[in-house]
Amino acid sequence: MPTQSSQSSTALNSFAPRLLDWFAENGRHDLPWQQHQTDTPNPYIVWLSEVMLQQTQVITVLPYFARFMASFPTVQDLAAAEWDTVAEHWAGLGYYARARNLHKGAKQLVEVIDETGEFPQTLAGWEAISGVGPSTAGAIMAMGLHHYGVICDGNVKRVLTRWAAIDGDITKSATTKELWALAERLTPTENSGLFAQAMMDMGATLCTRSKPACLLCPLKEDCLAHAQGARLIIPSKQKNSPNLVNSVMHC
Ligand code: ADE
Repeated sequence: MPTQSSQSSTALNSFAPRLLDWFAENGRHDLPWQQHQTDTPNPYIVWLSEVMLQQTQVITVLPYFARFMASFPTVQDLAAAEWDTVAEHWAGLGYYARARNLHKGAKQLVEVIDETGEFPQTLAGWEAISGVGPSTAGAIMAMGLHHYGVICDGNVKRVLTRWAAIDGDITKSATTKELWALAERLTPTENSGLFAQAMMDMGATLCTRSKPACLLCPLKEDCLAHAQGARLIIPSKQKNSPNLVNSVMHC
């Protein structure tokens, strides 16, 4: 099985600076939930947007996010709202369990704030909130609190699967572990929020599922999928899938 050692330490160490340079020039900086340009990030905004973005694209989320923020500007407002009102705001966004978790999570967050005076400050504290998995918790730590946090969501998995030519079968726990270990290795201790946002942008705008724009990619020099002409490898949940690097349509 290829491991992160299939990339040289030069490639590993220069990954973040190259990505951040690309992000500064070409990334999205005007998404309404972004907090990298503010000194006092708002974890509520990041939590709310990340839950909405879990299975839904930015373009779809934008009007929903605006309506939520207009009606529930604080987590206390969301926690105090009737479920029917929350459900009305969510209608059309799909995956209703997320809305249920969001409402429950808001109540849990208000309890934490009432007890401690602040939002959870640790990864474990966020993972204890309904609907918040390890990657969402990492995103909130990094982008919503400007603490250290690592993300490894679908976009990141696709980028890393390609860049390090990792076995694409994410039903294998070894694959998931390897992807997380690589994400941790690549995330800088300073500015992990900026790095998280840059990774999301890279996955959403360049290293897309079916039409990756490899020529514009700041990582193409050492992207192993690119080198193998197998840029379309993607993480998958296929049973008995072989290493997809060798099985995809080559381009
Ligand atoms: N997908 C998940 N989180 C995102 C974010 N913060 N910005 C853009 N796309 C995302």
